[in-house]
Amino acid sequence: MAKPFLKWAGGKRQLSDALSHFKPPSFCNYFEPFLGGGAFFFQLLPKSASLSDINKDLITTYKVVKNNVSELIQLLSSFSYSEETYYQIRNQDRLTSYSKFTDIQKAARFIYLNRTCYNGLYRVNADNQFNTPFGHYKKPLICDEKNLIAVSKKLHHIQLDHHPFESTIDRIQKNDFIYLDPPYDPVSKTANFTSYATHKFGRDEQVSLKKYCDSLTQKHAFFMVSNSSTDFIKDLYKDYTIHTIKAKRSINSNAKKRGPVDEVLITNYPTPPYTPK
Ligand SMILES: C[S@@+](CC[C@H](N)C(=O)[O-])C[C@H]1O[C@@H](n2cnc3c(N)ncnc32)[C@H](O)[C@@H]1O
Repeated sequence: MAKPFLKWAGGKRQLSDALSHFKPPSFCNYFEPFLGGGAFFFQLLPKSASLSDINKDLITTYKVVKNNVSELIQLLSSFSYSEETYYQIRNQDRLTSYSKFTDIQKAARFIYLNRTCYNGLYRVNADNQFNTPFGHYKKPLICDEKNLIAVSKKLHHIQLDHHPFESTIDRIQKNDFIYLDPPYDPVSKTANFTSYATHKFGRDEQVSLKKYCDSLTQKHAFFMVSNSSTDFIKDLYKDYTIHTIKAKRSINSNAKKRGPVDEVLITNYPTPPYTPK
């Protein structure tokens, strides 16, 4: 069984039960425009899907897993594990030679850093240089060969694109299902869930996303959005069905705030009542 091959901030593994419950009973094509680690895609495993994200290195990595998995595995399994190797690999994007890296080299580096950095956190500085510190894991599984091969097979008929969420709109048709998991609206001024990429996702972007959802409704497509349960989000989507669920956030700058918090799932179609397991 193929499962997510990356750790990703805001990953939806722990909400899997609620997400399956609230998905539409049937749909045509599946779209996931905020892909990240793709936890819900790997749960659904639809035969055809369009997956995208604004993070170019992330999409390059998915494409390499899809198209060049053997070469990727060969290179990734040749990397040793130590703090010194970590920083050597991390610092490659500061060298001029990095522009000559092939996509396979970039993808192997991306997976290595993801599996060995602190909390799997993807963080870059203003020059788009990866700057998450070493994770100090005892024995991280860097190259999960079996899973990478299984994922590669599953991605065979899947469309992968590097673009902002709005770019999907023209391809969406009646009865398609779009799952939207944007960077969260911060629950407090110190919560920094929005720093996945150099692209900011603030309140203006949340409003644009809501307008995009309105266009999906006009097209008679089904959407489901996840977000934090802030007054701003609840007001923004007040014309839709809002379900509140508890989730444990795995990445928060403040360790004390890692307990269960309310999240919302918003849909533009009716759903049966939900009792958490
Ligand atoms: C909460 S994460 C998605 C997590 C994912 N559902 C998972 O299970 O791992 C949000 C993702 O949105 C992407 N993103 C941020 N701004 C975006 C935009 N304007 N358009 C498309 N993707 C964007 C980020 O790169 C990040 O991967």
